[in-house]
Amino acid sequence: MALQALRGTTDLLGETIAQWSAVERTARRLARTYGYQELRTPIIEDAALFLRSVGETTDIVQKEMFRFEDRGGHDIVLRPEGTAAVVRAYLEHHLHKTQGFAKLFYLGPMFRAERPQAGRFRQFHQYGVEAIGSESPWVDVEVITLCMHIFRACGLSDALVWLSSMGSREDQQRSAQQLRARLAPRKTELCQECQARFEKNVFRVLDCKNPTCHAIAWEVKGSPFVLGETSQAHFDEVRRGLRDTGIPFDDTKVFARGLDYYTRTVFEVRAKGLGAQDAVAAGGRYDHLVEEFGGPSVGAVGFAAGIERLLMAIDAHGSAPAPTPRRGLYLAITHPPLMAEGFRFVQQLRERGVVALMDYDGKSLKAQLREADKTACRFVAILGEAEVKQRSITLKDLEEGSQRTVTFDAFVDEITQQWKPACR
Ligand code: HAM
Repeated sequence: MALQALRGTTDLLGETIAQWSAVERTARRLARTYGYQELRTPIIEDAALFLRSVGETTDIVQKEMFRFEDRGGHDIVLRPEGTAAVVRAYLEHHLHKTQGFAKLFYLGPMFRAERPQAGRFRQFHQYGVEAIGSESPWVDVEVITLCMHIFRACGLSDALVWLSSMGSREDQQRSAQQLRARLAPRKTELCQECQARFEKNVFRVLDCKNPTCHAIAWEVKGSPFVLGETSQAHFDEVRRGLRDTGIPFDDTKVFARGLDYYTRTVFEVRAKGLGAQDAVAAGGRYDHLVEEFGGPSVGAVGFAAGIERLLMAIDAHGSAPAPTPRRGLYLAITHPPLMAEGFRFVQQLRERGVVALMDYDGKSLKAQLREADKTACRFVAILGEAEVKQRSITLKDLEEGSQRTVTFDAFVDEITQQWKPACR
């Protein structure tokens, strides 16, 4: 059988790469506009990082991590998410001392051994931002606004924020007691795993994928999280800020986040047309994680967007991506011994940063012109014996549908000048 990419993983190529690059460019540009700096962390990490942050009773840690022992006996995982690694790096590089408040973003592959289906992959890509070092509700507003700004700039305008608050750690203790009291009479109806979760971490029953557990956990309407006065005031301020900024949100939806580190604000951004996996982005506050990793007690908030899901949502609902503009030059040769002459021109253009292509296999002129069209070059220059004799070259502009003759001496300058405005 022919070798194939593993289930839940994909090769990205052709037009898909153009779409990915456009999204990545927009995400990077807007992150910088909001003052976030890029951070790249390794793909492999110590398993303990995720056990201590995402949580030992979560599905991610219990079932979905690609986890292995290396030859030195270290417990390694392919990172399932970015937040824990960003906090580790924040402390490892002493950003808490040098920057205090650090605004960071990342783009890269994450790995979860989930059952692959539409919108759910084993290797997927996240664009994430983390603002570490502030408890201000305005940072929550900034992070959610940035997320929606990126979606809008990528052509996805109908995404909606589901917003909620899980309360502080103290609020969560009270909420856990209430939830336990409510679930206790039906505990034996829960799956084996949830019966264990009931004792260890009752909130995890809320995101069990078993339909019976799900129905029991959510049979009471409204949020399972009870907010104390301070958490309520924080949440009210986040909502006020989002309203002032014109970010549409729905705070009536109840949902659970499947990672343990969250406190107070949590949100998911949902898009239509994605079926069951409709969360394009998700995030929230994690005010204790820095301290739990041995750092100072500082607040933090962030989100991560799934690039695959974002592109699926754009395909389903957003505006069609603009066609790739024609760029650069294709030098067609009608006489193979002119290869060296042609290569010299092409290389001069490349040295000046112009995309320049040519054929090295002695293809027919027709085949070369087809190639020029396929590779979306803007100009085609045809070089033959007559051109060498006259020291001038015929230049076709495929975008404008025009044709002119340019001397050899002016050729490279002329193409470079045309290139500059198109590149900006
Ligand atoms: P998460 O909800 O696990 O949160 O993932 C965030 C986003 O990643 C999801 O909304 C989805 O778009 C995408 N995603 C997750 N799993 C898959 C998958 N198997 N296939 C395709 N896309 C997927 C986090 O990861 C948190 N670290 C977010 C965060 C950042 N919270 C605070 N800061």
